[in-house]
Amino acid sequence: MPVLSNMAVRDIETVIHPYTNLALHRETGPVVIDRGEGIHVYDDTGKRYIEGLSGLWCSSLGYGNQELVDAAAEQMSKLSYSHIFAGKSHDDVIELSEKLKELVPCPASKILFCSGGSEANDMQVKLTWYYNNARGKPEKKKIISRIKAYHGVTVAAGSLTGLPAVQTDFDLPIKNVVFTSCPHYYRFGAAGESEDEFTDRMARELDELIQKEGPETVAAFIAEPIMGAGGVIIPPAKYFAKIQKVLAPYDVRIISDEVICGFGRLGHWFGAEALGFQPTSISMAKALTGAYFPMGAITIEEDLYQAMLSQSEKIGIFGHGYTYTAHPVGCAVALKVIEIYEREKINEHVQGVAKVFETRFRRLADHPLVGDVRCMGLIGAAELVADKATKRPFDLKKLVGAKAAAVMQKNGLITRAVGDGVALCPPLIITEDQIHEIFDIYEKSLDEVETWVRSEELRAA
Ligand SMILES: Cc1ncc(COP(=O)(O)O)c(C=O)c1O
Repeated sequence: MPVLSNMAVRDIETVIHPYTNLALHRETGPVVIDRGEGIHVYDDTGKRYIEGLSGLWCSSLGYGNQELVDAAAEQMSKLSYSHIFAGKSHDDVIELSEKLKELVPCPASKILFCSGGSEANDMQVKLTWYYNNARGKPEKKKIISRIKAYHGVTVAAGSLTGLPAVQTDFDLPIKNVVFTSCPHYYRFGAAGESEDEFTDRMARELDELIQKEGPETVAAFIAEPIMGAGGVIIPPAKYFAKIQKVLAPYDVRIISDEVICGFGRLGHWFGAEALGFQPTSISMAKALTGAYFPMGAITIEEDLYQAMLSQSEKIGIFGHGYTYTAHPVGCAVALKVIEIYEREKINEHVQGVAKVFETRFRRLADHPLVGDVRCMGLIGAAELVADKATKRPFDLKKLVGAKAAAVMQKNGLITRAVGDGVALCPPLIITEDQIHEIFDIYEKSLDEVETWVRSEELRAA
């Protein structure tokens, strides 16, 4: 048992930690992060870590960026808060909305703001329902999500998240959410099935689901271009084209959840561009403000806007909004973040360094623990398996992925275990040398984990 510091004891007695084994946490205590600079964070003992996951896939411009600090401070001095209820507005929300309309990969009529990714997807669900009520299709309410999707944790967004821990005993999902297959060829491809055949099956299964549910009841399909928290799952190249073809006749909103992929992660402004599909609407958060301020947003297409107008005439107002919708500090920070992305040519930078990232990731495939490596742009994961030849996973209860993440953290690299995958999603400002440093630690740590796996005989079937 580690000796817990005073700060650790105070944490244990006062703080609930999301996505943490709360029982185990009482024994291990927290890692108290104290400060950040560039791609590094430091704990309260002064130990330095490379933030290999950009916090929670969000600190795209790293830590301590003075321009962003100044932008926030100036806005706080000028107008620390103003809401946009009842027709009020401010310069920054107007300017940011115009900018986002210019950048997004879908025909956006308006932008609706919130405070994060879950809220963004929650609004997508509410507005899909509102839209179909407005146009006299009250039966058209089902949202199709995918097994292993991550769309957040509010009641509606948690219902879209296809991961058991997010739903079990929370009485989720709510009604009108249904799930289609996960496009993870390595894990779910059938024996002897080619990647093309697998992709065709994914499309066929979606069509069959729509037929089974009744096309007149299906309102939307939501997908992350690359599934993040579900395991950094990159769909086969033709997946989205085929899915889009299936959806085309059914009058459904196609929602791209760009909360991780948006703003340069894949070397494009948005993931839908990199994966080749055309959404009706997108959800964004995280890198929208580089995580310097909690903010999310969705795009509103013209059809939906017209429906919202008619609802306002019928009901009297658009009855939705948060105290912090379009917070002026968030808007000022987002505008500065986008200015930096443009000035620093962040997409080109990512496309350049992504080559080194990919080369180093592919090299991991030779490691005895690694069954699959997948990466695109500056996001990726290596999946650890008990048997490379048969793809047999480790007993999930042995927490081999979590162990690997813990060893990497000990060695100065913060990653994230997604099942038995170990994910990387570094700040977009990372250099080639820093990428090499990340993978040197990653490889060395995998060797340590291999030694542990052997000593504990964890490969036993
Ligand atoms: C794709 C995706 N959507 C939605 C969310 C939820 O965002 P938030 O945690 O800001 O509510 C996340 C969070 O990781 C995400 O990865």
